[in-house]
Parts: sequence; structure tokens; C-alpha cells
Amino acid sequence: MVIFGTLSAVLFDANLIIQIVLLVWLIFGALNKRELKRHGTIMAIGAISNLVTILFIMGPSLIRNLPTLVTPPVTLGVVITVAHAILGLVAITGGLLFSLRFVLQLRAKQPLACGKRWMMRTEITLWLVTLLLGIGFYAFYYLPH
Ligand code: HEM
Repeated sequence: MVIFGTLSAVLFDANLIIQIVLLVWLIFGALNKRELKRHGTIMAIGAISNLVTILFIMGPSLIRNLPTLVTPPVTLGVVITVAHAILGLVAITGGLLFSLRFVLQLRAKQPLACGKRWMMRTEITLWLVTLLLGIGFYAFYYLPH
């Protein structure tokens, strides 16, 4: 069964939808940047949901396809996959670190300033580029061409 009628397994169709929903969720959270408790809660939920999809869907897929990635030829698909994996790793690490700071500061009843504006802008940009590469991955491997 496939949702979009592509070659992709239903799990990867579902993952693509989840990632797009998550980005909309994070943009909604970014718009709430002044309400720090609400902003931090929305972003932490987003980061943890993303971690779950990495651990159960994207990570296992990366490990399964590792032999293709390290064996020539270096196709456009391989470049997209490696860039997606590296930027995605940086993005989720940043998101989880902000979230951890948020939880610790919340519990200690300290001011909820988990990062500066440039850090937040870098984080959301990384997230967006990673998603675009993920969509590129999907198009390269699962859409007929
Ligand atoms: C995935 C994680 C996160 C992303 C993608 C993210 C993204 C953003 C974005 C886009 C802004 C607006 C920046 C601007 O003014 O242009 C912002 C502001 C801000 N966020 Fe986050 N955020 C995340 C997690 C957190 C967490 C957990 C906290 C802790 C409460 C936090 C604290 C702040 C603060 C203090 C600002 C205002 C920064 C300033 O204007 O100096 N963020 N964030």
C-alpha cells in the first residue's frame, strides 16, 4: 500500500508527511518566540518527535543503505543523502540541546533564555535545509524518472 502511489514504502510516505507537519509546527513555535514557555514547549515537542522518527525510521534506513553510500559511483542521490544525514544530525543535536536547557531552566525556575537570536535563526535554517534535502531524497529515489 502506498499513499502517494510512488515506489516508496508506506513508512517513508508517512515519514515525509510527518516531517512536513513538524516544520509547520516549528514555524508556529517560532512565531510564538516572545512567549518563551510556550515557544520552548512547542520546540521541545518538535525536537523529540523528530528524534523518534530518526531512531525508528530514518536511522535504520541509513544503516541499511550504508553499503550503497560508501560504494562508488557517487550519484546525486548519494550526495543528497549524505548532506541530509550530516545537516540533520547537527539540526537535531542543536534542537535537543536547546530543549534540554529549556527543561533544566524550567525546573530550576531560572530565566528561559535557551539561546540567542542568531542561534535560533541558524537552527531553523538548518532544519529547513535538511527538510528540503529530505524531499530531494524522496524525489530522487521514489519518484519515477
Ligand atoms: C528546535 C528547536 C528550536 C528552534 C528551531 C527555534 C527557533 C527559533 C526562532 C526561528 C526564533 C526567532 C528568531 C528571530 O527573532 O528571528 C527563536 C527565538 C527564540 N527562542 Fe527558539 N527555537 C528552538 C528552541 C528553543 C527553546 C527550547 C528555547 C527555550 C525557551 C528557545 C528560546 C528562544 C529565545 C530566548 C528566543 C528569542 C531570541 C532573541 O530574540 O534574542 N528556543 N527561536
